[in-house]
Amino acid sequence: MRIPLVAGNWKMNTSVDEAEKLVLEMLDGLDRLDGVEKVLCPPFVSLVPLSMMLQGSSIKLGAQNMYFEAKGAYTGEISPLMLSGLCEFVILGHSERRWCFGETDEMISKKVKAALANGLKPILCVGERLEENEAGKTEEVINRQVTVALDGVGLNVPGGDIEKAERMSDNLVIAYEPVWAIGTGKAATGEQAAATIEFIRKALAGLWNRDTAEEIRIVYGGSVTGANIAEFASHREIDGALVGGASLKADEFVAIVEQTARIKGRDRTSRR
Ligand code: PGA
Repeated sequence: MRIPLVAGNWKMNTSVDEAEKLVLEMLDGLDRLDGVEKVLCPPFVSLVPLSMMLQGSSIKLGAQNMYFEAKGAYTGEISPLMLSGLCEFVILGHSERRWCFGETDEMISKKVKAALANGLKPILCVGERLEENEAGKTEEVINRQVTVALDGVGLNVPGGDIEKAERMSDNLVIAYEPVWAIGTGKAATGEQAAATIEFIRKALAGLWNRDTAEEIRIVYGGSVTGANIAEFASHREIDGALVGGASLKADEFVAIVEQTARIKGRDRTSRR
């Protein structure tokens, strides 16, 4: 059984004070919800204070990006070494990184490998642009993004502890985020998202094997709100959500996690 995951991507929003305030507003509501992995991805500068605030809670932290080198003359960049120990997850290949900052599939692949080698769990984002979607190229684009990003990534986590069975499926999350649905208020339908996610799972099976592909969590992202999360969570294929705008509103984010927990929990019970 894949454990559902809901991550909030705060993007370039919130000062440190505002981030702390937002966490305080959602902490109790989120902490009491079981059965869903809950991840907050604030700006880098808030990772340290939030990691202290979240100690002892069930809420995990993620970074929104990182560079692939360990250290050196890379002004303005943050390395995997700086993040490890501070957060568990790192969003990589987000479409805003691809389209505003020119990140290529090859760079994203280096980042995925560097994250895994440093004990960070990548939330690898893939998704087609509107014109690619309209040209019927969704599968081609997604297949390229997935296979290049994961090229040369083995089934065991590099440097992973064999004793602890560091399997890829416990360490990698994929987010399907169609670019046309991000921040536009025009979410994909549950059917569309589920169909593409099924396709991603097939690509993963081709890269590794069926069992691993079945175990890796694939979430949907793009204009997810409290009003539409049920449409996504109720698909067996969709393991949760990467939430942007709606994760900046405490009540709404808690409602998204709450509905995911309820719907996925019901699924689990009915399949026993
Ligand atoms: P959105 O962003 O929920 O605001 O559409 C999602 C994302 O970019 O991860």
